[in-house]
Amino acid sequence: MSLAPQVVVVGSFVQDQTFFCAQFPSPGQTTVGTFVTGPGGKGSNQAVAAGRTGVPTAFVGSVGDDAFAREAAQFYATEGIAAQFITKPKHATATAGILVNDAGQNEIVVALGASAQIKPRDINRNLIANAKVVVCQHEATLAINAHVFRLARQARVTTVLNPAPMRGDFDPAILKHTDVLIPNETEFVALANQLGLAGKTVLTEKKLAALSATALHRLCRGFGVPTVIVTLGKRGCLVSQTDGATLIPACRGIKVVDTTGAGDAFCGGFAAGIVKFDHDIIAAARFANAVAALSVTKRGTAPAMPTAREIAHFLKQSGKA
Ligand code: ATP
Ligand code: RIB
Repeated sequence: MSLAPQVVVVGSFVQDQTFFCAQFPSPGQTTVGTFVTGPGGKGSNQAVAAGRTGVPTAFVGSVGDDAFAREAAQFYATEGIAAQFITKPKHATATAGILVNDAGQNEIVVALGASAQIKPRDINRNLIANAKVVVCQHEATLAINAHVFRLARQARVTTVLNPAPMRGDFDPAILKHTDVLIPNETEFVALANQLGLAGKTVLTEKKLAALSATALHRLCRGFGVPTVIVTLGKRGCLVSQTDGATLIPACRGIKVVDTTGAGDAFCGGFAAGIVKFDHDIIAAARFANAVAALSVTKRGTAPAMPTAREIAHFLKQSGKA
């Protein structure tokens, strides 16, 4: 019998259609590249990242009645990770067009399709109540996130919000039900400006990059969320808690191939770390840093998430085990 899921991720499954090219084409330009398709979606990527660490994990998301949905179910069966796919027959499984250039940067357009059709009645309350950590992002609906977090809070389950991609209709009310907020720099800037955290100044990514850890921590405290973790790409991440901030540098000595899904690897690794390290936030963030670093050494999103064995080997090799 399989163990009850300790990490539950509610979000999107997306069929990624990825094109690799030397440089992004400019508007009006056609460029020659190579193509792969595979399982993606921020929610699903995070569930795969958590599940591959060995922590019992479940993914919940809605899909169409089509070939991509059948491949998704097959992928989860092969991975041995629990998944509840809710079928929305009138809608297509979500798809994303992804461009990756030779510098490992990406540009993404995601069509949410069936993923945006999930409803509160689709959520199994017991699955949420029996978890230790519940994770949501912005590729299903904001209403489902609010519903899931309310259920989680009633059951004292830790809630993790990755506000990706940032949306114009974001309702800050969810922050009251959020234990850990994990934005990247783009999302942080958008959120901070929406909430007016920088006063009359408009925050930009350039200004954010120039902030000291203390100044960034001060801004983080404005969200009113116990823990805010800002992921800073190759600079690592800043963990802001009520009693202070910790800057965790990114893991060094890795060969960056494709950073698509690095944020997802971090969030999934963090959720698993919360379980593994019994709610030690800093230990979980260090673990997430390693999971994310390993994910950028491979092409693709979900398939690039490292296994427990790869993580253990990497931590041992880098003297962090
Ligand atoms: P993406 O949108 O590409 O999926 P993101 O913008 O959401 O990523 P980032 O902040 O770029 O997320 O990266 C997430 C985490 O991945 C970082 O906090 C870090 O731990 C790891 N990471 C990213 N780039 C690198 C790198 N070049 N070297 C080592 N670790 C990296
Ligand atoms: O974060 C990466 C993911 O974002 C991709 O897998 C793609 O599906 C998009 O939703």
